[in-house]
Amino acid sequence: MRHFTCVQDLGDLKQALREAFEIKKDRFQFTELGKNKTLLMVFFNSSLRTRLSTQKAAMNLGMNTIVLDVNQGAWKLETERGVIMDGDKSEHLLEAIPVMGCYCDIIGVRSFARFENKEDDYTEKILNQFIQYSGRPVFSMEAATRHPLQSFADLITIEEYKKTERPKVVMTWAPHPKALPQAVPNSFAEWMNATDYEFVITHPEGYELDPKFVGHARVEYDQKKALEGADFVYAKNWAAYKDPNYGKVINMDRSWTVDTEKMALTNNAYFMHCLPVRRNMIVTDDVIESPQSIVIPEAANREISAQTVLKKILEGLQ
Ligand code: CP
Repeated sequence: MRHFTCVQDLGDLKQALREAFEIKKDRFQFTELGKNKTLLMVFFNSSLRTRLSTQKAAMNLGMNTIVLDVNQGAWKLETERGVIMDGDKSEHLLEAIPVMGCYCDIIGVRSFARFENKEDDYTEKILNQFIQYSGRPVFSMEAATRHPLQSFADLITIEEYKKTERPKVVMTWAPHPKALPQAVPNSFAEWMNATDYEFVITHPEGYELDPKFVGHARVEYDQKKALEGADFVYAKNWAAYKDPNYGKVINMDRSWTVDTEKMALTNNAYFMHCLPVRRNMIVTDDVIESPQSIVIPEAANREISAQTVLKKILEGLQ
């Protein structure tokens, strides 16, 4: 594998899952693979889980890691071509990217949707510039439209906890005070569509996702109806995708918060969220603290998804 930006890059998903479970049994069995190889992790946005889990995964493989927080200590970067750089930005991304490529073997990039220009976001302008100009394998640590390391960890977690071959997985929108990107829900939908699970998406009207990601999911506007019989409840907020409201919060309806009453409609479902989560907006204290909440094992599996992806990229470098 050269680059990793979406589920298709993994190739055979069942095989990738087998590799992930093999790594989970003994995460130090490939320590020679990354010897004398350097991972550069570039963050345009904040992170807790991605930063720690990816660094740990790289260390498990024997790699060295460098972390660059673009907004803390680096030169301010211009990303638009043609701009007369007489403002506060000292360096252009088009020089910065190949320079970064000089110091490492693999680059991970986190660059969220900016909600300034839908086309720039949905063509993954920043991530693709890294792929084009770094000369290195690049993987997404959450880009504008997808968060594949998260979705891979989510899938590993569902596979571990599922009690039936074809569980019912419900992704529900939940309220949040800020405009959040669609990367996590898009990506989760894309990965669920790559399985044969029963997959339902529920959200208030106006929060329809890009049909490309919705795929063959059933979209249900009645949250309670959607949750009936669910085996997994995956909660997430996202801002509107559809024009003219792209990137806007159009509704903060707290009746969509996942609470014990809603969970009672399910088939004793497990509760999932990618974290960080705003308690009593997205989910109540009672639900996230309940035995059915698997948000911590889900986060723990971020190390496994990152290690599986890094291993596959390192094998491609051999
Ligand atoms: N879920 C996730 O990506 O967490 P961070 O934003 O903390 O990395």
